[in-house]
Amino acid sequence: MKRPRARLAVLVSGKGTNLQAILDASRDPDYPAEVVVVVSDRPGVYGLERARQAGVPAYVVPWRRDPKEFGVRLAEVLERHRAQWVCLAGFLRILDPEFVERYRGRILNIHPSLLPAFGGKGMYGERVHQAVLQAGVRESGCTVHFVTAEVDAGPVVAQARVPVLPEDTAETLAARVAEQEHRLYPEAIRRVVTGEVRFEELAQSRR
Ligand code: GRF
Repeated sequence: MKRPRARLAVLVSGKGTNLQAILDASRDPDYPAEVVVVVSDRPGVYGLERARQAGVPAYVVPWRRDPKEFGVRLAEVLERHRAQWVCLAGFLRILDPEFVERYRGRILNIHPSLLPAFGGKGMYGERVHQAVLQAGVRESGCTVHFVTAEVDAGPVVAQARVPVLPEDTAETLAARVAEQEHRLYPEAIRRVVTGEVRFEELAQSRR
């Protein structure tokens, strides 16, 4: 008998192209996960619309000054939908450590660089690609990693590389990286939910 599919919550703050890639992958009945709920910290973003179009329940949990309170509200929504995994997909807030602990080893994030390079607080969106261009490196890419209390520093699940071309702007580089993100994220989710990659093993081998 086939195993039940893993239940994913996807968190967004913006246009949600990575959410779309995950929704598209899960249209295949053999894909081992499905999106059961989408949450945004802000109203009106296109990610919410993508969820609605796919028939997935979508909520706004407004960001609070107190991240702990946000974490509690968020966990309520996830529990109501029996989400087992949390995938951050262009989610721009830093989750409260208590929330991270509660979902320990079950939160993933995608970042548009080859971590540990060009990561950390304040490194998101176009800023990442600007920094890559300014540094003059020849290669960039994206990283899917487990989320821990330290920003962008959790164990790496998968990475994809792209060349940085001399004529690149932040925009052209972002587009090249995004193409890889949309391939990498569903694949990384597959590896994690099937147990092919395990948080505890990765975390231990880093000690
Ligand atoms: C992506 O570049 C992702 O790596 C970063 O935020 C961007 C989100 O894009 N964390 P989208 O909302 O999935 O289109």
